[in-house]
Amino acid sequence: MPSTGSSDLVIVANRLPVDRVTLPDGTPGWRTSPGGLVTAIEPVLRANDGVWIGWPGGTEQDLERFEFEGLDLVPMTMSPDEIENFYEGFSNATLWPLYHDVVAKPAFHREWWDSYVSVNRRFAEKAAELASEGATVWVHDYQLQLVPQMLRDLRPDLRIGFYLHIPFPPAELFQQLPWRRQILEGLLGADLVGFQLAGGSQNFVRLVRQRVGHKTHRDLVYLPDGRTVRAGAFPISIDAAGFEELARSEAVTERAAEIRAALGNPRKVFLGIDRLDYTKGILSRLRAFSELIADGRLDVEDAVFVQVATPSRERVEQYRILRDDIDRLVGRINGDLGKIGKPAISYLHSSYPREEMAALYRAADIMVVTPFRDGMNLVAKEYVACRFDSDGALVLSEFAGAAEELRQAWLVNPYDINGMKAALLEAFAADERDLTRRMKAMRKQVLQHDVAAWADAFLEELAAVRPSHGKSVRPAKRS
Ligand code: F6P
Repeated sequence: MPSTGSSDLVIVANRLPVDRVTLPDGTPGWRTSPGGLVTAIEPVLRANDGVWIGWPGGTEQDLERFEFEGLDLVPMTMSPDEIENFYEGFSNATLWPLYHDVVAKPAFHREWWDSYVSVNRRFAEKAAELASEGATVWVHDYQLQLVPQMLRDLRPDLRIGFYLHIPFPPAELFQQLPWRRQILEGLLGADLVGFQLAGGSQNFVRLVRQRVGHKTHRDLVYLPDGRTVRAGAFPISIDAAGFEELARSEAVTERAAEIRAALGNPRKVFLGIDRLDYTKGILSRLRAFSELIADGRLDVEDAVFVQVATPSRERVEQYRILRDDIDRLVGRINGDLGKIGKPAISYLHSSYPREEMAALYRAADIMVVTPFRDGMNLVAKEYVACRFDSDGALVLSEFAGAAEELRQAWLVNPYDINGMKAALLEAFAADERDLTRRMKAMRKQVLQHDVAAWADAFLEELAAVRPSHGKSVRPAKRS
């Protein structure tokens, strides 16, 4: 038996759930990152002496395992070469566009692949070192798809789960990847492979049958060594109650009123909040909105579009190009259609803490989420969670995973500008009864299916795959 560590639950993700910050006294410190994943996983980690392995961002090489707000964190280092080849290259210029419907052209470079293999190996070795005998290891996302099999080779005693946060593409696109078989075999090291939607899970099983040649039946893959791998859909969600509580707070209520006043108290505020990413459809939605103003269907005296674009992956070429394109388009729209003190678009290239996001959601009458392809899109769910008065409209792309759950949104095809214009106008003009009916139904869905339910469902299913194998994960004590 290989030597083992002491953690009964190991989370392996590209990023740690904390960000490096400079503290008020000028020394470096940490702050919990805003994502919902940590909220969901933290209680299970605590109940199981769990540990989280991930990259803290940056190139610091001398970081030791540390505890932050009761979380046991193991930082993985990344060299400048690895950031370029593994993170910006293979993860975000090969896999990211390939898995998002080839919205941008994926680049295939052998040196990027080599770096992907070696970084995945380092993560697998670290997990193998920390996991106790029979522990559960939960590996996350497209940056680490080789980890499950690498880890199984090192530690066959473990129970291994993998969850993909982004879409898993259809075979017709996936097969472009020169390393398609290695990726499938990497994932098959897991006992349970989770996807956002049933479609992704079906794409995976079909590819395994076609490309690796294993026998499959529905969501099961039968490996020659007798092991069975299950694939399944586990749509991720948000800390819905946490968002609602924040939205109800006095500070957020006041801030929302301040935002509206700063915008000149227009009749209706449209809002987009996205990572600055070409999959999000930011240009098309701004174009649709501006055409409504140019056509005289909307007036800048009545309506403004607030677009927040959070800086992301700024050294990757496609992201730089997109930033310039947005700057140019917003400048042109405001130059052509704005009036003094009344721009058509209020554009912010910045990231904000949860409180400010909640205030923006409270300030907005119409939330516009129009990605060309998105695994889930948590912004749509956050907006719904914050609308505790059951008002506000959601315009949502059919190609966001969230569209499978939020059926009462105005669903749009982001490639169809006229269709988007019609939906934006309908949402703008909708009466209160219609808004309430739609929002109530969406709120029920989001509040009942929160991120804690998602984490529990995945871990329960993982424990059920091979009940006699490995230790059970103790359930989280959730308040
Ligand atoms: O949703 C996919 C994802 O890569 C997440 O894992 C991550 O939190 C987010 O996008 C931001 O990406 P990055 O880690 O590249 O900044």
